[in-house]
Amino acid sequence: MEAQGKGHDRSRGRKDSMKKQIVKAKIVSNGEVEKDHFVIDLDAPYLAEHAARGQFVNVRVRSEGTDPLLRIPLGIHAVHEGGVKLLYKVVGEATRILSKRRSGEVLDVLGPLGNGFDLDVLKKTTQAILVAGGHGVAPLYGLADELIKRGNPVDFFIGASSEDLIVCDSELAGMGARVHIATEDGSAGSKCYVTEILARHCAGDTCNAGDAYIFACGPRPMLSALAGCSRDAGIPAQVSLDAYMACGTGACLGCAVETKSGYKLVCKDGPVFSSDEIVWEK
Ligand code: FES
Repeated sequence: MEAQGKGHDRSRGRKDSMKKQIVKAKIVSNGEVEKDHFVIDLDAPYLAEHAARGQFVNVRVRSEGTDPLLRIPLGIHAVHEGGVKLLYKVVGEATRILSKRRSGEVLDVLGPLGNGFDLDVLKKTTQAILVAGGHGVAPLYGLADELIKRGNPVDFFIGASSEDLIVCDSELAGMGARVHIATEDGSAGSKCYVTEILARHCAGDTCNAGDAYIFACGPRPMLSALAGCSRDAGIPAQVSLDAYMACGTGACLGCAVETKSGYKLVCKDGPVFSSDEIVWEK
C-alpha cells in the first residue's frame, strides 16, 4: 500500500525541499478511520515522486471562495505509487470542510514542504524508536513503513488521552512494528503519559542506547518531556514540531521557534529538528 515510486531516493527529503509545486490532486477516497480522524487519499504523482518522510503539504480545503482563506498544513502520512495519503483530525472549520470533500473532487495542494526526517544518521542495525502523541502518528506511520522495509527494528509508542483517539495501532503492528500504548485514562495500554513508557523502554535491557534513535511528533509538552528522556538515555532524537502556519513557505514569519542558534521557521527550516537544538520551556 505504501510502496515507493520507482527510483525513490529514500533519504532525499532535505535536498528536495525546494521542489514545491501547486498540484491539482484528485481525491481517491476520504473517510473517517477513528473518531474525528480521517484519511484522504490523493491522486498526486508529483507528490509521490518528490515527497519524503516527515514533509507536509498545504491544502486549500475549498475549491472556490475565500473562506477559510488560508491553506491548512497536513503531514504526509503515506506515499504510494500514484499519490499520497494525509491523516487529519477534525478540529475546526477548515478540517470539517475537508472532511466533507468527496472522491472525484480536486484539491489544490502545495508541496512537498519542509525538510523531512534525516535517515542518513541510521545504520542498518539501529533500533528506531518512534513516538507519537495523538494524531502525531500521521508523519510517523510512513516512516515506520520505510524503516521496517530497510530492516531497522521499530518500536512505536503511541500516547493519547483515551482509547478512541488511538489511531493506526493495528496497522503498525501488522507492518511489523512493536507497538506500545499509553492512555491518560487507562482505557488502553498503560495508564500514564507516553513519555513514561518511553523512559522505561530506553532504560530497559532490550534497548541498546548506543545504537538507537528516536523520531517523534506530538504536542509540544510531550516533545519537551521526550527531549529530557533523550538526554537522560543518551539516545539522539529528531522531533517534528507543530506550529500555527499561515503561509507554509517562509513568507509570514508566523511559525518561528526558538533554537539554540536563534529563531528558525518551522515551515521552512523544519518541521523536523534535532531535539537538543530546540529551546524547550524552562
Ligand atoms: Fe509563514 Fe512559516 S508559516 S513563515
